[in-house]
Amino acid sequence: MNQFKLLRFSTCIFLILAGSALAGRAVTQEQSQNFMREFNRIEFRKLPIVGDWFEDQDLFRHRVRVFAKWLDQNPIQMFDELREHEPIARMSSIPIRGAKYKNSSAILVMKSADVIEVLDHPEVFSVRHFAEKMSPLGEHMLSVDVSPIHAIEKPWMRKMMPATDMKRIGEMVDRMALISTDLMQVVSEDGKSAKLDVVNALGRRVPILLSGEYFGFPGPDMTTMYRWSHATQEDFFHNLPNQRKLRNRAVKASEEMLAYATDLIEKRKAALKDPATSAQADDVLSRMLKNEKLDTADLTDDRVGINIVATLIAGVETTETVVVQALQELMKRPEQFELAKKAALANDDELLRKYVWEALRFHPLNPVMPRYAEKDYVIGKGTSRETKIERGATVLVGTQSAMFDEEVIPNPKAFSIDRPASIYMLFGYGHHRCLGEMVSSVQVPRIIKSLLVKKNLRIVPSKAPRKVPAFPEDFWVEYDL
Ligand code: HEM
Repeated sequence: MNQFKLLRFSTCIFLILAGSALAGRAVTQEQSQNFMREFNRIEFRKLPIVGDWFEDQDLFRHRVRVFAKWLDQNPIQMFDELREHEPIARMSSIPIRGAKYKNSSAILVMKSADVIEVLDHPEVFSVRHFAEKMSPLGEHMLSVDVSPIHAIEKPWMRKMMPATDMKRIGEMVDRMALISTDLMQVVSEDGKSAKLDVVNALGRRVPILLSGEYFGFPGPDMTTMYRWSHATQEDFFHNLPNQRKLRNRAVKASEEMLAYATDLIEKRKAALKDPATSAQADDVLSRMLKNEKLDTADLTDDRVGINIVATLIAGVETTETVVVQALQELMKRPEQFELAKKAALANDDELLRKYVWEALRFHPLNPVMPRYAEKDYVIGKGTSRETKIERGATVLVGTQSAMFDEEVIPNPKAFSIDRPASIYMLFGYGHHRCLGEMVSSVQVPRIIKSLLVKKNLRIVPSKAPRKVPAFPEDFWVEYDL
């Protein structure tokens, strides 16, 4: 397990994960009590020739490996121990091939208050890692911090996707899930049951269909859309070490997507000149084009293109991953699973969303999110954990840890749907909080609902989900007909 993946951007993010976070997270009792001991062990300290500097390097490198392993196998226990014993911990730098910026140590920040402090200071803790990765697309709100692009385009995009669309999105997702299930389920020979691959039939298929119908970005065909989203998501947010093959695929996909978007925008603009078409066109892209010049002259066709392309990149693997992870967490808890099914059968979408969000607290898309220290900064000032973070450090912000911080979350280990919405950091926090949160808060539970209403829903035991590299490639369930 020497491949260190940190930083998952699922949306929207980096996460270099070691191995499969989907395939069993169980650890032995002995392991579960000993994260700190493993983390603090200095494997090479006894070598006679090493001076202090080398001792520190060895300690910190060793820590990176231990952190990666525990992030994969038992993050909640690890976060508990870190918060208790070393809430601001230092590791060696994360290797980034060809990094054009200073890349010193990596700092883990695990207390809720410190997580919020980092994410509330985008002028200090930037998304520089993403900027480098997303360069084939051009600047985007997630690759810049306090800047005109972020200040103008995020509110603009929010206006294009208002909460009043939720009902419509829900109806679309219900329809798409139903049709996709009918099309993709594999009915048994006796006709009494069916098997379904949740990832390919729903998790990645519905967001691509939604991209066409709601976002107005249909793409040439389903296969190309999936290749584009997968290649860019994989490289931008899961390839921090810069493997050339993944990078090349993403650059090619970005070029193709932008060319397709340019052509699509031209055609859509021509079509919108017809008043009848314009009056009917109510997808996000058409809205952007109709409103484009109203707000500011900065919103050129190029900016429209980058923003609409980014909705595809941000919305597919993120959705397929959380659908699978939420289902797995619910299925692990029979009592909660039954209650979630009851909410689904009663069509109580808001109640079901609460079950899904709480399930995701135990296995979110992004357990940690990366930031880059643009200047020296003292975090946790006046507390016993006060620490100077030096310019050039990568800060791994423990958003999942914050959702389990007993200082602010009562009884954090309990599964409870009564927690206030404000404690959830499933979609990030602060300046870069997810633009697609509203869409996802409809889409994800509705996809899951389409499964929970099936009779006797169960996992197909022989088919463990494959994860290549960071997203589930399949997840088979079975139900009675
Ligand atoms: C369940 C699905 C999703 C999850 C879990 C998710 C998660 C996230 C997270 C954690 C961030 C914050 C990244 C950071 O601060 O470093 C983020 C940002 C973002 N997400 Fe999502 N996302 C999802 C779906 C979507 C969708 C459907 C869209 C399409 C509009 C989208 C668009 C974005 C954008 C544009 C940002 C950057 C916002 C900014 O920089 O201000 N996401 N997402």
